[in-house]
Amino acid sequence: MAPNIAIMAAGKGTRMKSALPKVLHRLAGRSLLDHVLAAAAPLQAAQTLIIVGHGADQVQAAVAAPGRAFALQMPQLGTGHAIQQIVPVLDDTQATTLILNGDVPLIASTTCAALVAACAGERLALLTIELEDATGYGRIVRQGDAVQAIVEHKDASAEQRAIREIYTGIMAAPTAALKRWVMALKADNAQREYYLTDIVAMAVAEGVPVVATTAPSETEVLGVNSPLQLADLERRFQKREAERLLEAGVRLADPARLDVRGTLHCGQDVEIDVNCVFEGEVTLGDGVRIGANCVLRDCTVGAGTVLQAFCHLEGATVGEAAAIGPYARLRPGAVLGPEVHIGNFVEVKNSTLGRASKANHLAYLGDATVGERVNYGAGSITANYDGAHKHRTTIGDDVHVGSNCVLVAPVEIGAGATIGGGSTISKPAPAGQLTVARARQATLPGWVRPTKKKPK
Ligand code: UD1
Ligand code: CA
Repeated sequence: MAPNIAIMAAGKGTRMKSALPKVLHRLAGRSLLDHVLAAAAPLQAAQTLIIVGHGADQVQAAVAAPGRAFALQMPQLGTGHAIQQIVPVLDDTQATTLILNGDVPLIASTTCAALVAACAGERLALLTIELEDATGYGRIVRQGDAVQAIVEHKDASAEQRAIREIYTGIMAAPTAALKRWVMALKADNAQREYYLTDIVAMAVAEGVPVVATTAPSETEVLGVNSPLQLADLERRFQKREAERLLEAGVRLADPARLDVRGTLHCGQDVEIDVNCVFEGEVTLGDGVRIGANCVLRDCTVGAGTVLQAFCHLEGATVGEAAAIGPYARLRPGAVLGPEVHIGNFVEVKNSTLGRASKANHLAYLGDATVGERVNYGAGSITANYDGAHKHRTTIGDDVHVGSNCVLVAPVEIGAGATIGGGSTISKPAPAGQLTVARARQATLPGWVRPTKKKPK
């Protein structure tokens, strides 16, 4: 049966030393809270309740979506107090409630599901792990094998502090009992807080079985409390992502110098050089090669295409066997056909280029429809903006645009036309003919260059 899910996200995160609420800090391009919500999604919770407090409006605005509800915790008097805030709305016709921490972002859906299964509406299931250094965490106190309690670090005796098994901050509890337990919590501890972890001793006292499930990896359960921990978790996440790609056959020049902030789909025999950043949804076809220092966001690159170093692509679609860069910029709506060549310092925006068209040097194509086999000269631009509106430029197949031309849109260049270098074209250029629009070259006979007069 579907569980309820509660996510605690009200804490201040003092140690982040940031104006941004902690759970909105980004890991691999998305907020910590977003990661937790993504891990929770496959469980198809009956209720998803997010407890907000510090920066509540900002947090709520960032993750509001149908099926998610928010509870305000103000002030924040501890994790037990956080859960008290949802007691009135928590639906106990769902037998199990899974509690997640907004600052433990890399928890896996499978681990959440295992914890829900371990609870099964009748046991208190805790996610635990053994750490080399357990400082700061709540310790799992056992008698023999049986879990007796969780003791917070600040309240623990020297003997208890030696325990290396810790509570990860994630549990699944029988809903009705959880509501009862949290309402009975007392804040008689070192921090004067209502500790959610005190419900463990309550369950034991009532004879409710308490089970500890071991987290499959440390990375999954590490919390973010400081920029240092955030950076550490980012590297762990990226290492995992790189290993996944390598295992799938992608050849990374250096797995330590890759950043995936979204989803990267790769065909067979893809090669990626160092320091590339992939954001959003990126798809690379078979045999694609990406040079060093490229940034690609939300784009698709066709099979066999080569991106040389320092390219920036956003919202672009590149056909097969194309040659891009170095230093090319493809902006949203750039749709390049197969075998297109885009060279250094060429910017393409909201334009389609047909098969085998080339713009190799220092050029701009904005709001243009370009046919096949067009050669677009160095330094040429579409003047697509009149100060108020954008206009289209249409260039037919086999057109040759010379260097340093200005195509003043709206304008149409007929198929097979040639535009003389340095032309400013503001009227239609007929197909198959040479059009030149620039001052005629003149040589002035007898002209003498001025010279400086020597002072007397
Ligand atoms: C908590 C656990 C500790 C565990 C650790 C794992 C308690 C008492 N302790 O300690 O046993 O080892 O997590 O990381 O639960 N929050 C609220 N409202 C509050 C306080 C906290 O929403 O009033 C939220 C925070 O935003 C955070 C989460 O609860 O997402 C955990 O709070 P935090 O203060 O970091 O708890 P820890 O001291 O780390
Ligand atoms: Ca914490």
